[in-house]
Amino acid sequence: MTQVRLRNITKRFGATVAVADVTLDIASGEFICLLGASGCGKTTLLRILGGFARPDSGEVLANGKRVDTLPPNQREVGFVFQSYALFPTKTVAENIGFGLAIRRRSKDEIARRVAELCDLTRLRGMEGRYPHELSGGQQQRVALARALAPEPSILLLDEPLSALDAKIRAHLRTEIRGIVDRLKVTTVYVTHDQEEALAIADRVAVMDAGRILQVDSPMNVYLHPAQRFVADFVGINNALPGRPLGAASVEVNGFALDTTVPEPLRGATSILVCIRPEHVILAAPGAAPPGGTGTLAAVTFAGATVRVRLAVPGGHELLADVPTHEWQALGIAQGDTVNWRVRPGTPVLLPGGNG
Ligand SMILES: Nc1ncnc2c1ncn2[C@@H]1O[C@H](COP(=O)(O)OP(=O)(O)O)[C@@H](O)[C@H]1O
Ligand SMILES: [Mg+2]
Repeated sequence: MTQVRLRNITKRFGATVAVADVTLDIASGEFICLLGASGCGKTTLLRILGGFARPDSGEVLANGKRVDTLPPNQREVGFVFQSYALFPTKTVAENIGFGLAIRRRSKDEIARRVAELCDLTRLRGMEGRYPHELSGGQQQRVALARALAPEPSILLLDEPLSALDAKIRAHLRTEIRGIVDRLKVTTVYVTHDQEEALAIADRVAVMDAGRILQVDSPMNVYLHPAQRFVADFVGINNALPGRPLGAASVEVNGFALDTTVPEPLRGATSILVCIRPEHVILAAPGAAPPGGTGTLAAVTFAGATVRVRLAVPGGHELLADVPTHEWQALGIAQGDTVNWRVRPGTPVLLPGGNG
């Protein structure tokens, strides 16, 4: 069932169009991520959803009713900010109970709810501490518990983990997902981190310049990006011009590559062949499989893989991620000319190309 409906939302700040004609339906109980680079309008859209900002045009509906003129406290929203924004002079328990206290709930009810949330967010035993006595991860769990305490019907989180280090981030995102699943609260989660979005969301909305470019399951966004920008954002960094050769092959950089050509692209004279770096396979000189040629322009060691920048004919560049053990076996170095091919079936084909 659709719980929240955004209809043609636009918001400008002077000459800047922060949100441009966004339409999005969010189902009850759904976990949706707004994914995009800094400045693309994620926070503005979240603030409009929460009632902290008003759109210039468009409608926000919750359970079928217009709410875009209602203030946050009449919208049943919980908000977790990028900076935890805890009250520094209140204890953990007072922070978590704050939303209930201003709603004049009884002391007993507040104590019960705070205890429940401390269990849920693993803060038991820390109720009497002050924010400065907590780690970043603990502070963010307090912020989450505080947002959840009044039982919001929708939870909004704005880059809640961006101030934490990578290991805690990965751990806490799984924890957040588990908690909101248990409470069955509809969640909109903003992040600029594609890995985080793919890992945590039911659906990902990829944003650029105030627009939503694609809304889909993480797997579909990753495997079937609808546009070049989305492809790039989910790690498909190579895009070469190509030409369809029927239904199951494309010509790229002078050789034929086996892959399914979607029906609408079959008649095109030029398309974009988007390739993940991990799907580019390099061959040792002499043992060359059929494929293209390229010169190793740069080599960067990245631990599990070696990232190779190949200069290929036509003035194009191609990134290849080669597993480190395979790289060692290749016995090649910067400046060498090598053969490369692409794992069949892996490229994403998009309209465009030479133009
Ligand atoms: N209060 C504001 N006044 C002026 N410009 C703003 C304001 N808030 C946001 N913007 C601009 O709107 C655009 C979108 O900002 P924001 O929604 O914060 O993006 P994000 O959260 O994706 O980084 C940016 O260009 C930003 O500079
Ligand atoms: Mg932001």
